[in-house]
Amino acid sequence: MNKFYITTPIYYVNARPHIGHAYTTIACDTVARRERMLGVDTYFLTGTDEHGQKIERAAQAAGKSPQQLTDEVSAEFRKLWDRMGLTYDDFIRTTEDRHKKSVQQLFRTIRDNGFIYKGTYTGQYCVYDELYVDATEPGAPCPECGRPTETVHEENYFFKLSAFQDKLLHLYTEQPDFIRPETRRNEVMSFVRSGLRDLSVSRSTFSWGIPVPDDPRHVIYVWLDALANYITALGYGRDDDKLFHKYWPADVQMIGKEIVRFHCVYWPAFLMAAGIALPRGIVAHGWLLFEENKMSKSRGNIVRAETILDVLGTDALRYFLLREIVFGQDGSFSFDALVQRYNSDLANGLGNLASRTLTMITRYFGGAVPTPAAVDGTIADTARKVIQEFGAAFDQFQFSRALEGAWGLVAAVDRYIVENAPWALDEKKDEPSRARLGTVLYTSAEALRIVTALAHPVIPEATARIWAQLGLGEIRKFALSGLKWGELQPGTRLGKVEPVFPRADKSAIERMQKMEEQERTAPAAEAKPVAGPKVITAPAAAAPDGKITIDDFAKVELRVGQVKVAERVPKADKLLRLEVDLGTEVRQVVAGIAESYAPETLVGRKVVIVANLAPRKLRGLESNGMIVAASPEGGKAILAGFLEDVPVGTRLK
Ligand code: MSP
Repeated sequence: MNKFYITTPIYYVNARPHIGHAYTTIACDTVARRERMLGVDTYFLTGTDEHGQKIERAAQAAGKSPQQLTDEVSAEFRKLWDRMGLTYDDFIRTTEDRHKKSVQQLFRTIRDNGFIYKGTYTGQYCVYDELYVDATEPGAPCPECGRPTETVHEENYFFKLSAFQDKLLHLYTEQPDFIRPETRRNEVMSFVRSGLRDLSVSRSTFSWGIPVPDDPRHVIYVWLDALANYITALGYGRDDDKLFHKYWPADVQMIGKEIVRFHCVYWPAFLMAAGIALPRGIVAHGWLLFEENKMSKSRGNIVRAETILDVLGTDALRYFLLREIVFGQDGSFSFDALVQRYNSDLANGLGNLASRTLTMITRYFGGAVPTPAAVDGTIADTARKVIQEFGAAFDQFQFSRALEGAWGLVAAVDRYIVENAPWALDEKKDEPSRARLGTVLYTSAEALRIVTALAHPVIPEATARIWAQLGLGEIRKFALSGLKWGELQPGTRLGKVEPVFPRADKSAIERMQKMEEQERTAPAAEAKPVAGPKVITAPAAAAPDGKITIDDFAKVELRVGQVKVAERVPKADKLLRLEVDLGTEVRQVVAGIAESYAPETLVGRKVVIVANLAPRKLRGLESNGMIVAASPEGGKAILAGFLEDVPVGTRLK
């Protein structure tokens, strides 16, 4: 069938977008662009995941209503995708009416088919991962993120996941490409083989979600709500379901490896229960690491895409992510590596090949592609091989291998130009040299055309410009399926030749680092409470005797946190690096308490954190908050604590 439907996960709106989110979306955009160039009717979906307790609490912490927070953050994702020129066909938000209607229809269908029943759930729940956990002890750590789970006791609706164990195993065996790569498939198979318990698919302890049909005291479990986006965006369960009939099932559903279980176990089971066709394949990639850890808001180690776009442009980010990281595996981001790749492959590689080839054609042939006197076999053969291998690698999502091959052609043409020295041929001014000059420059330009066409889905902006400089018009109209050696027509008049990738100097690295540093240390925009007793509109009146008013005190956000990780900071005798759970997020805090406490005695301990302190760096580590301690004169610091048990995240006031 000549259609292709590709989806990204929908992103949580409790965090602003960073290049980890951009990574998946760029990979999907690249695949979608290639499919379109191959003439396939393509539909590309992305969006935001906006319900659930995590979002509700994040909104609370920011002093906003959930709708206000979701509107703001969702718009940021969309704005960034648009700035990067991502070619999504639809952007779904789970708070939209169209989605809610379809999700309720899906719930009803599964219930009518006998796979949803009412029962009682008592157990542990991880709010951060929105995940029911098999542990029995209150506060047991979540197996995914290590944060303490919360005990929930609810009358809930349950999904008969246990009824799908054999069907799922059959699916993984019959359709080996359902989960890629192989390592993820093996993990999922062993998880399912170990037995599946029924899954709670409603919650009644909070309300930020889609009401269960006919029982609005419950909201639908956020993962059932979120996964459904892939069909609700197409109109499933509504009158306007044309797109659903046209594009479903999805051809590729791309995700990060941490959400494999939801997509490869729950999602197909929900679909089977509703009698809906299954996606053709779920493709999981690895994590983008920064400073050796998964880039994430809770670790405070994110890099924003905007910084890279401002300094190097979209193509640089796209090329780096797809060339540097072996898709499926974890890969590290660093500004050094980004600039190095940019200079070596884009500025000195493709950019330089384009400008020298086109400049020589302008100079020696008046700006018209010369007629080759012969076919220069080696380059033509390399190009043919590259076209074939590029497609094969791309079909396997091996972007870095595909690009490596194409850039092998760039290097081969560079050598070819040096060996044939067109400038020397031009100087000879004899017929055979002139004929040879035509062959060399035609060959170079034709190889440039081929790399440009292949690379277009990855670096769309620069390739569109090179294509126009080659005198070929609009690249998006080019049919990639017809790409073959020798199609460049002699006599084609070149467009205006201009450099596409200016070299980046060392200051680019510093500039980007500084921009990110500033972003991290800038005080967060003041939260504007939407409800509550008092909105501060004017500076609080100063109280006499150097005393502060209650409004001044209210500016300090003190919260109960729980230490998850504590370790010494190398070469700093007084400092400990802590990861402190605040209920809605885990913060890194660097504290000068190493002389008072051994790190291992702190793990699990509840502490008081100044949560709205502007971040600062200590020994190169970002400290995101301050731990409260008594500091006796000349003595050691003593941490503030509680005699009674207090829930994590509680505000002190
Ligand atoms: N809302 C769920 C997904 C629901 S899909 C029905 C969710 N959202 S998320 O905001 O946490 O984003 C998850 C996705 O963002 C990951 O699966 C991955 O695609 C991308 N990434 C976020 N951080 C990333 C890295 N550090 N590295 C690579 N990808 C990352 O889970």
